[in-house]
Amino acid sequence: MVSPDAATAQHPYSAEAGPKRVRTRHFHNAKLQGIPITGLTSYDMLTAQIFDDAGIDFLLVGDSAGNNVFGYETTLPVTVDELIPLTRAVVRAVTRALVVADMPFGSYESGPDQALATAVRFMKEAQTHAVKLEGGRRSHKQIRRIVSAGIPVMGHVGFTPQSEHGLGGHIIQGRGEAAEELIADALAVQDAGAFAVVLEMVPATVAARVTERLSIPTIGVGAGPSVDGQLLVWTDFAGMTSGRVPKFVRQYADVRAVLMDAVQRFTADVKSGAYPAAEHSYE
Ligand code: KIV
Repeated sequence: MVSPDAATAQHPYSAEAGPKRVRTRHFHNAKLQGIPITGLTSYDMLTAQIFDDAGIDFLLVGDSAGNNVFGYETTLPVTVDELIPLTRAVVRAVTRALVVADMPFGSYESGPDQALATAVRFMKEAQTHAVKLEGGRRSHKQIRRIVSAGIPVMGHVGFTPQSEHGLGGHIIQGRGEAAEELIADALAVQDAGAFAVVLEMVPATVAARVTERLSIPTIGVGAGPSVDGQLLVWTDFAGMTSGRVPKFVRQYADVRAVLMDAVQRFTADVKSGAYPAAEHSYE
């Protein structure tokens, strides 16, 4: 759990102070020392380089690429074949951050054999450092099998976007009596051998209880402050998305406005003949 003075503590694996490469054991140490872990999604080489240089701890090549790269309405249509090239690009770009590849819908639900085969593809074809899959108790066998092959797994409970139709939409999970179910799911992920677990759209008090109960770090996405780390979808946090962003997102930049302005000025300059000027032309 993040201690009150953790924000001022020196980060054990900040770009300046920490290890040259973030490993799963550093996640464990961070929890023990009460030092927050940071994560962002990334789907390409250029953003991965920037985030890695800035000192992010881990990058998730999320199946949110479905919405943010491929233009699908949900993450459901995303395939392993679509995510592998994105993961490969992110892995090639980083020197320090741990890269986690998201296992898309349909690539692990059939059972442990299918799950391991998918995880092995991400390891061999994209050289990812870890994989993530959704589900608590229902994914216990899958997580255990992947971990037993030596592949680190990040779990994901609470709101799990791949089940959005089953869950009845983007609904906060673990409220009221459902809190016990959520805790049971998080414990199952830990028991199966995962090195960390994402808690998505969970009441802050419930996330705090889960964080107290687990020895592995909890990574919150809309789970309040009492977790061991925070993860955001980069297009939300940087203001790339034109639509509504979830309540839990703090927008740290307005990249969309910057690009919009640049494109409008470029267009105006070309139309008016102001670009290219003499200095942009070869003799
Ligand atoms: O795909 C994704 O971006 C995710 C995070 C929201 C946890 O799974």
